[in-house]
Amino acid sequence: MAEIGDVMNVVVFDTTLRDGEQAPGFSMRLDEKLRLARQLDLLGVDVIEAGFPIASETDATAVRRIAVEVRRPIVAGLARAQRQDIECAGEALRPAARSRIHTFIATSDLHLERKLRITREACLQASIDAVTRARRYTDDVQFSAEDATRSDMDFLCRVVEAVIDAGATTVNLPDTVGYSTPDEIEAFFRHIRERVPNADRARFSTHCHDDLGLAVANSLAAIRGGAEQVECTVNGIGERAGNASLEEIVMVSKVRGDRAGFVTAIDTTAIYATSQLLVAVTGEAVQANKAIVGRNAFAHEAGIHQDGVLKDRRTYEIMRPEDVGVTRSTLVLGKHSGRHAVQQRCEELGLALSRLELDRVYRGMVRLADERKKVSDADLVDIVHRVRTAEAADADAARASRVPFVPPMPDSPTTELGYGHGV
Ligand code: KIV
Ligand code: ZN
Repeated sequence: MAEIGDVMNVVVFDTTLRDGEQAPGFSMRLDEKLRLARQLDLLGVDVIEAGFPIASETDATAVRRIAVEVRRPIVAGLARAQRQDIECAGEALRPAARSRIHTFIATSDLHLERKLRITREACLQASIDAVTRARRYTDDVQFSAEDATRSDMDFLCRVVEAVIDAGATTVNLPDTVGYSTPDEIEAFFRHIRERVPNADRARFSTHCHDDLGLAVANSLAAIRGGAEQVECTVNGIGERAGNASLEEIVMVSKVRGDRAGFVTAIDTTAIYATSQLLVAVTGEAVQANKAIVGRNAFAHEAGIHQDGVLKDRRTYEIMRPEDVGVTRSTLVLGKHSGRHAVQQRCEELGLALSRLELDRVYRGMVRLADERKKVSDADLVDIVHRVRTAEAADADAARASRVPFVPPMPDSPTTELGYGHGV
């Protein structure tokens, strides 16, 4: 566990395409998920949770396509602690350069008794079976104890020890309903890490929801308590009030490194473009005063503030807009704009274009500008990724004729739990 004064590398596990996509109004098509996955790669996330393959054929296809095309980050697929889910995730992830099966089951008595209607012992056995089965597909297996923060501590520790013995390499302890508080979740992680005898053989992960507006604070506290992976989403999207916001966690570590005590591999200058792409794809705007990426995050209207910022911007700005990729452009893109303006704005958004890409992006911009007067940053980022997706699809089609058929893994019996698909 990290000591005070240590600076820890924290793994960023992005679940925008899974927990985020699951929220009402945020579902994405295959091509949209692919564009976002590419942008998450540019952003520098360590793990992309690409979807929940058993949930639908579209989800399975999206996970497979992302596994084929996005090669640097680990690509994860979600699976309940059930045989079919794990097989489906294992198959979807087969083409990945680095794959992770993320299997989960609830551990709180409330969920066990009222939702799953199984005993603690059945839950323990299902957890072990799920991890054992997942390890047949990949040596990178994550186990999540859903509703961990409301689970009985003795039972949770038994489950954690058992799944690590079964081969889980990451153990995620979600605050599924956003019920915890920072002091509580820090002590929770500290306690489990100290008490579980084989805790040093796995990486602990935090996954916080924002029902009380504490998801980011709780994630930071969990890291203080020993979590070395943080699960989060772009713009904080996710079930109900959302998940911990990626950009907020990352910028705390950057701006307040003196207090946070951890670093991430995120390229912060790609944050704004990523946020805007998500807006373009989902059609859901970010609230104006949202930290880091909201329209007003770097805007100053009050006279006293304007005066201060004009004299020295540090009076009212604790980070530079360009550090998160927000550039104050005076160029307005429309149908009269030239190629050069398009190229410059893309560069300001952290998107370097080849000559061919610039030609295509320019044509896309002019087409869109014919329909609406102004082309926004979100539109432009979206056009760039559309062009790149089309290029990759061409390359994919060419490759497909050369990829050999891989037969599915042989099957073997396991515990079956009769619960539905919903997470
Ligand atoms: O919130 C949660 O518990 C989840 C799990 C599936 C990890 O999203
Ligand atoms: Zn969640």
